[in-house]
Amino acid sequence: MHVAIIMDGNGRWAKERGLPRIEGHRKGAEKAEKVVEWAADLNIDYITLYAFSTENWKRPWDEVKFLFTLFVDFIKKRVNRMKDEGVKVKIMGRREGLPQEILDVWDWVEEETKNEERITLVIAFNYGGRAEILDAVNKIIKGKIDVVDEKTFRKYLYIPELPDPDLVIRTSGEMRISNFLLWQIAYSELIFVKKYWPDFDKEDLKFALEEFSRRQRRFGGI
Ligand code: IPE
Ligand code: IPE
Ligand code: MG
Repeated sequence: MHVAIIMDGNGRWAKERGLPRIEGHRKGAEKAEKVVEWAADLNIDYITLYAFSTENWKRPWDEVKFLFTLFVDFIKKRVNRMKDEGVKVKIMGRREGLPQEILDVWDWVEEETKNEERITLVIAFNYGGRAEILDAVNKIIKGKIDVVDEKTFRKYLYIPELPDPDLVIRTSGEMRISNFLLWQIAYSELIFVKKYWPDFDKEDLKFALEEFSRRQRRFGGI
């Protein structure tokens, strides 16, 4: 089972408390660590977390910088713990444009955790669904391939072996996809949760999984 989460609402969570937006992101990162533990307990095989989108560069530079620092700190601080817990970490996104420090941590954490197999944590960072599709198309053109089918196209996605999400959860009450996993969510079930991401708890995850289990997936059939 693959659950993908659009972790939204950190800024509003902070604003409601009279705190700077970055405090919301700090809380959000703590919640991200927790959700991976809960997911492993609940026997989820893959969890993908949307941490920074290709559109998030539009934010004030101070906030962007903070999110980059948070990404680096999150990984450095938690890598041993994640290894103890059997978490394989993969980063998914466009490498171009990211600072070298991020790219180094990206490669390092994937190498460090490559043999873990209890759960795979995919962190979508500098990720955009359109960017991913365009990057795939450009690789295909460069390879001078002139016809592709779905199976071949998948091989050009950022993480070809990643199965499509069964369930996508978005917090904060917004009901949109915001350029997340466009190719992969063709038949995913969608669940929107009103709570802001820092308030999301294990019961919310369990509730979403129960709701998912009641859905009838037809994939176009009857
Ligand atoms: C989600 O929280 C985290 C990122 C996009 C990095 P937001 O920062 O979007 O919080 P809101 O939507 O402004 O409340
Ligand atoms: C989506 O949230 C991106 C992440 C959670 C990283 P946004 O807050 O950027 O989305 P919009 O702008 O509300 O659509
Ligand atoms: Mg938001």
